[in-house]
Amino acid sequence: MSRQTRQTGTARQTGQGRQSAADTQAAPQAAPAPDVGPGRARQAQIYRAGALGQQPRVPADADGLERRARRAMSRRAWAYVAGGAGSGRTVRANRQAFQRWSILPRMLAGAATRDLGTTLLGRRLPAPLLLAPIGAADLVRRGADLLSAAAAAELAVPYVISSQGCSPMEEVAAAMGAGPRWFQLYWSTDEALVDSLLRRAEAVGAEAVVVTLDTTMLGWRPQDLNLGSLPFVQGIGIAQYTSDPRFREVVAERLASGRAGGRPARVTPGAVRTLVSVSRRHPGSLRHNLRSPEPRAAVEAFLDIYSNPGLSWDHLATLRERTSLPIVLKGILHPDDARRALDLGVSAIVVSNHAGRQVDGAIASLDALPAIRAAVGGGLPLILDSGVRSGSDIFTALALGADAVAIGRPYLYGLALDGRSGVRDVVANIVAELDLTMGLSGVRSVDDISPAMLTGPSSPSP
Ligand code: GLV
Repeated sequence: MSRQTRQTGTARQTGQGRQSAADTQAAPQAAPAPDVGPGRARQAQIYRAGALGQQPRVPADADGLERRARRAMSRRAWAYVAGGAGSGRTVRANRQAFQRWSILPRMLAGAATRDLGTTLLGRRLPAPLLLAPIGAADLVRRGADLLSAAAAAELAVPYVISSQGCSPMEEVAAAMGAGPRWFQLYWSTDEALVDSLLRRAEAVGAEAVVVTLDTTMLGWRPQDLNLGSLPFVQGIGIAQYTSDPRFREVVAERLASGRAGGRPARVTPGAVRTLVSVSRRHPGSLRHNLRSPEPRAAVEAFLDIYSNPGLSWDHLATLRERTSLPIVLKGILHPDDARRALDLGVSAIVVSNHAGRQVDGAIASLDALPAIRAAVGGGLPLILDSGVRSGSDIFTALALGADAVAIGRPYLYGLALDGRSGVRDVVANIVAELDLTMGLSGVRSVDDISPAMLTGPSSPSP
């Protein structure tokens, strides 16, 4: 449902949802009354702990969070997570785009309580945000997807299960209880595998399929290239595949044809490390896997078929008959593509440049947003992803036409610093800042955040 038409809930309802998440944190004293809103509740929690000599494990500012997380991560993990395409121009542009806009707060609006709730694809959410799909997150911490998904479920924030995840989607869903989850699909060249992944996503209760359009091949990523490091080659990030019955058939066919799974030409310490990593992550016992050609064949098969460089609108046109799930297209930047998606009848679009990881020099996602909103009109939900770091950023994105945002790197930084609690705290901090930004800008509901609340590159002075 778009911002123009979405329903509003009461501040008390959404406050209660957030409160239950906050209750589980290490609060030394009783949490404040629910109707102060998530911003003041989170401040009180941090300051009360501070009065007892406890400092938050997760910095409250985006730069501090990133700096601390970098120290906690391996070089390879940092390269993969923080890295971008080429010179990093689009990674930087995603941030600079936010900085070109300023919020114009209004006074004396009596915004004592704020309603951050929104309805997206028919589900009421406590705040307009989701956790973006992130592949190979075990680079950061073992069990990454389970920990992040559980934190999202605690906050009732949708978690988008990655095609490039490190735990099978069935295990992720089990870690989430009733928490909302969506499934991100990389369109494989093996159409039977696409169908199998869709069936599994439906079975685990995914509420949407998010088709990533912008990663039909990996972008040119110097940080990874300079380390010669691709997590999938280590067997990290291929769990949706090795747990899939159709994918296992593909691997068996490959082995039967004698094309795969051979020993490395030279036995080096690196080759042994790779063999152990791949064997450890493949289903079955390590002992068996070390001797079997299958785990290596699985990596080779994955690299061959996981995505389709020839993906086109013709493929997309088949999707409506292949799944009952709402279809969300991720990676749209051009208004004409957005119009085409609308004509196709999709349920939502994610305006995204894949966090600057694909095309160096691509337009910042935020810069693409206003034209896409204009192209599709008010009826189609838009989710903005790439460069969102704070509650103030969410306010800006909503003012420029987004219905919600997806957060990526920041929650992985929280994961690096403090596991599941770190993810939860990062998200809680961002929501807290959104609440305070709304209240201090004179806004009572996310529906009231409009372009008139911003001044920026193309706006006349008020
Ligand atoms: C995969 O989605 C990646 O960006 O590496």
